[in-house]
Amino acid sequence: MIKVGKVSDTFVYFVNKGKHPKNIEKMLKKIKFKAEELNTDVFRQGNKKYIFIGIGDKKGDILRRAIAKALSIESKITYIPNDLDIEEQIRLVVEGAVLYSLKFDEFKAKKDKKRYKLGLMIDKKFKGLINKVRIIAESQNYARKLANLPPNIGTPEYLVKEAKELANKLGLSIKIFDKKALKRRGMDAISSVNAGSDKGAYIVHLTYKPKKVRLKVAVAGKGITFDAGGLDVKPAKYMFNMHLDKSGACVALGIIRAVALLKMPIELHAVVGLTENVIGSKAYKPNSIIKAYNGKTIEILHTDAEGRLVLADVLSYISKDIKPDYTFDFATLTGAMSISLGKYGIGAFSNEQCLSELAKKIGEKTGEKAWPFPMWDEYNEMLKSEFADVKNIGSWSGDAGSITAAKFLEHFVKGKWLHLDIASMMVAENHPYFRTGPIAPGVRLLVNMLEVLVNGCR
Ligand code: BES
Ligand code: ZN
Ligand code: ZN
Repeated sequence: MIKVGKVSDTFVYFVNKGKHPKNIEKMLKKIKFKAEELNTDVFRQGNKKYIFIGIGDKKGDILRRAIAKALSIESKITYIPNDLDIEEQIRLVVEGAVLYSLKFDEFKAKKDKKRYKLGLMIDKKFKGLINKVRIIAESQNYARKLANLPPNIGTPEYLVKEAKELANKLGLSIKIFDKKALKRRGMDAISSVNAGSDKGAYIVHLTYKPKKVRLKVAVAGKGITFDAGGLDVKPAKYMFNMHLDKSGACVALGIIRAVALLKMPIELHAVVGLTENVIGSKAYKPNSIIKAYNGKTIEILHTDAEGRLVLADVLSYISKDIKPDYTFDFATLTGAMSISLGKYGIGAFSNEQCLSELAKKIGEKTGEKAWPFPMWDEYNEMLKSEFADVKNIGSWSGDAGSITAAKFLEHFVKGKWLHLDIASMMVAENHPYFRTGPIAPGVRLLVNMLEVLVNGCR
């Protein structure tokens, strides 16, 4: 819970190298506090407790880390702002607290009973800002929680049910295409990926349509509820955590949740493709040639490059049936992302340079950093097939694996489009404010981008 005002007699103050209020300066002197990054000390005065956390001369993400650290010491805290920009402090501290407070204990008998409370000693006029930041961060938590569902529970059917509940709660309209409907419409790509699974395949299309619409946007999401690789089966080490391969779809649902709750003036379509990619006698085979919804044929070289196939139908559907001003997609698409960016960034690929540059710029602010990759024509050479319009991998060696995946997707979109490959940030381990589990990044990035985009891309 987050509110304006005092919630407990435990106060938290972040010590930078600047000036501090007199009473605080006194305490800092007494304990000889050094304003070094994340240096922490406690000062008691009567029944009041002060937690001091150093932030050095840093701004930005360190505030999220520091508030998480404070909450790990004491679950009910009252934040006293320092002399840095107040709105910036509110944004970072609220985000850090909301993200840190999500625990993945729903399947444990013994729950962590800790309830976190954050009070902020700030003017009431910032209530609106707190509310907005909270809704966006909670929408990321919603995506994280969904993404974390184990593969035996978080099935395509489960996610369809979840999408229906979300639609009900937020007053969204919903269209669901099941296995039969997908086949009838000629959506062979997602149907092929699904062929080996005993569970269903679905494209779920949610729409939020406010009275005042300034922008029409579609957000696609890859929702592979388990990626075993298909007939080109993954080795055990690489199959672990592949229930998180539905993160892109969860992010898309998180985004529509945030946009609807914030009542943004945007007609938003969230379209997710849901299926497993598993092995079995009915599984789709290498050398198969299949046809996507936009009519293009695809030669299958590798059944583990399945996310792009699901997105081929989803993106074709968006371009043919929705025709938005901007299309975004989120996908844990390529392992190659970790080779290029490690675990610290989202890959941004676009047919409109302005969009990937905007993602980079907004990423700095939201802490969900995105980095633009080239989309040069030359990469298309790598996708040429002898027998079909395009093949589903660029090379056996994995050369430029993330870029060729993006170039593949480009064959199925019309209009301004940004692809965000979130594979490298799929999961957190020993992270200062994400508990071990999925990160589902992108909700904060995209909602903040949309705020800019209502005035055009610049
Ligand atoms: N879901 C994986 C990508 C992935 C790997 C995400 C590791 C997060 C962590 C995707 O479907 C996949 O298997 N991609 C292959 C593509 C290859 C066969 C061209 C990959 O990245 O190895
Ligand atoms: Zn795969
Ligand atoms: Zn996958």
